[in-house]
Amino acid sequence: MPRKIIIDTDPGQDDAVAILLALASPEEIEILGITAVAGNVPLALTARNARKVCEVAGRSDVKVYAGCDRPLAHTLVTAEHVHGKTGLDGPDLPEPQMPLQDQHGVDFIIETLRAEPPGTVTLCPLGPLTNIATALQKAPDIAEKVQEIVLMGGAYFEVGNITPAAEFNIYVDPEAAEIVFKSGIPIVVMPLDVTHKALVTAPRNEAFRSLGTHPGTVVAEWTDFFERFDKEKYGSAGAPLHDPTVIAYLIRPELFTGRHVNVEIETQSNLTRGMTVADWWRVTDRAPNAMFMGDLDADGFFALLTERIGRL
Ligand code: RIB
Ligand code: CA
Repeated sequence: MPRKIIIDTDPGQDDAVAILLALASPEEIEILGITAVAGNVPLALTARNARKVCEVAGRSDVKVYAGCDRPLAHTLVTAEHVHGKTGLDGPDLPEPQMPLQDQHGVDFIIETLRAEPPGTVTLCPLGPLTNIATALQKAPDIAEKVQEIVLMGGAYFEVGNITPAAEFNIYVDPEAAEIVFKSGIPIVVMPLDVTHKALVTAPRNEAFRSLGTHPGTVVAEWTDFFERFDKEKYGSAGAPLHDPTVIAYLIRPELFTGRHVNVEIETQSNLTRGMTVADWWRVTDRAPNAMFMGDLDADGFFALLTERIGRL
């Protein structure tokens, strides 16, 4: 029985690969809809990019919604320096032909959770948590309806990538993250601690290209583009492929290891705004509220990803 999910996303090349992985895995995943949020680039671009990605997979039937265009309390911070001005630089993709749904993404999330049987829908946020938090604020009754939130965001041992203390998705909207982490909903966190071990090395990039398919080539070109920033910054062997770890967890959770600990979000300090304070060593009596991942089988992850992209 496939798991029903809503992908909340700010594409972003890594978001795009995550969406393709989900679309390539119908046995395990049924995508009820994709909601775009402002993050890597403004909302108009993330909503356009989400549709471009669906069309790379030939899936213009997928319902894509535009959600919130700015964080709850701060002005929007974007990341064109990483993702390029379109947010999906690398391959030259055509303008999307498929429509954007009229309904606001937040209302789609609320309506879907109210309509589906309790505990049967998983939310998969891949960007700032603005849409999820807004839905919880507008309709508190939906919290108990959610099966699980599996999100990419945060960092602990790996520290920050947008400030010394904070990871981008949480930094952009820390108030939203605080609402989500205090919601009582079961949460699985894919932090930089994991995603910085999922590097697109040259052989892994070559494996995408060697698929010889349009989606395979597009993924290789996305990760080539995405990589130039991280290599310069981290001197790493390749770009960390952040968001697909969320979808890979739904398919093969055994690829990941972590701890169920307390995670709280810094929202007051300018210096450490957006920090995910994970009580990894359980030195406080704060109740555990998240499965905070710490490691992955990177070869297993890329083998799964490449095999599935090859199916498109
Ligand atoms: O910090 C990495 C996260 O920020 C990823 O989700 C990337 O797409 C950006 O949204
Ligand atoms: Ca993202």
